Amino acid sequence: MAPREQWASKLGFILAAAGSAIGLGAIWKFPYMAGTNGGSVFVLLFIISTIAIGLPILLAEFIIGRMGQADAVTIFERFGKSKWWKGIAWLGFAFGFIVLSFYSVVGGWILSYLVRAFTGKLAVQDHGELFASITSNPVEVLFAQFVFMFLTVWIVQGGIKGGIERASKWMMPLLFVFFILLAIRSLTLDGAMEGVRFLFVPDWSLLTGSTFLLALGQAFFSLSVGVTAMMTYASYLSKEEKLGQSAISVSILNIVISILAGLVIFPAVFALGGSPAEGPGLIFVILPAIFEQMPFGTFFMVLFFILMLFATLTSAIALLEIVISTGIRTRYDRRRRASWVFGSMIFIIGLPSALSFGILEDFSIFGNSFFDFADIITSRIGMPIGALFISLFAGFILTNAQTSKELAVPKPIHALWKFLVRFLVPIAIVVIFAAWIFESIF
Ligand code: TRP
Repeated sequence: MAPREQWASKLGFILAAAGSAIGLGAIWKFPYMAGTNGGSVFVLLFIISTIAIGLPILLAEFIIGRMGQADAVTIFERFGKSKWWKGIAWLGFAFGFIVLSFYSVVGGWILSYLVRAFTGKLAVQDHGELFASITSNPVEVLFAQFVFMFLTVWIVQGGIKGGIERASKWMMPLLFVFFILLAIRSLTLDGAMEGVRFLFVPDWSLLTGSTFLLALGQAFFSLSVGVTAMMTYASYLSKEEKLGQSAISVSILNIVISILAGLVIFPAVFALGGSPAEGPGLIFVILPAIFEQMPFGTFFMVLFFILMLFATLTSAIALLEIVISTGIRTRYDRRRRASWVFGSMIFIIGLPSALSFGILEDFSIFGNSFFDFADIITSRIGMPIGALFISLFAGFILTNAQTSKELAVPKPIHALWKFLVRFLVPIAIVVIFAAWIFESIF
């Protein structure tokens, strides 16, 4: 039997964890979610959720994963005492599957935009119309989604993942620099301040359970927690790594990039006369318009979409990784075949999401398109539930001796973390969830 892999270096893990976290969540989903949910209050709740709820769970996943040094099912079997705990692993498997099925659709849109940027076809009058025409064209969306999934599988099974992660060491900072430049351009447009106000001046009437749940779901999505993805990555980790530092860096980075994305998008939305509540097309409509206002815009836009594709691929890899590692468990020699098989299944399950903006536009499940439904059952339901149980597991099943050994921080900090995962985090998730259900019923 082939041996289980380990990260070759300390950097490998940090890059992979950051690569998994930073992706469409911060760059694409955060702006559009903030835009459709009134801005500032959502932003604030997102920051609170990330630090007070997401970060402790991220740490919990790191701790459980490294302690277990195995796939998630095996870990919960070994430490769980009751057979029910391994349900968390299968939940992660199922929801990872579904996340990737619509994630790859957006990955496909990026490919479409990249090709168009390259051939100069993004210089159009109406970017909203262009987005609609691309995403409603069944041949194009399916082909693009296929290519994106193919790339993801090919990277995962071809053993070049390490190279991709190393490349992200300079691709991600470059993306960051780009975002700063774009934010500067956006903030200096006429009328930009309206967008800044939208992001930072809270309108408290928007504070509802549903906004809180959306912000919480966004924090989970963007940190990749709740579906055992980070646990899986940490399980390949050696014992020397400082888990706390990694978790804090990933969380802060996520907040910074999300806010930066907001500072790119919203000033331009208001200055150029767009709508903040545009929905999933928001960045695709606004970004090309900002590049048009810059010298060498076309060139930079090509570069930008390449970087964005990269950030998206590193997250997609992480998603496929959970599915494969839980799917094959210890039969490591089946990795390659499993990558293709699961990849194909994910592509097929993603078909209705891909077609949600065109021929399946009028098809709805409980009032949502397939695409939105896949997002809702993962971000709003699956990840919070997964996170709740991971938190309880780390808080009550693992002993203090076990967790403090893994965490390796001073006693009071360990105690604080333990308090959070035992009480604050689970209670907060349940209350927010209940408030949302209450509101949706009444
Ligand atoms: N966090 C990623 C992003 O923001 C998405 C992602 C990667 C993810 N792995 C995940 C989401 C696991 C949920 C679960 O783009």
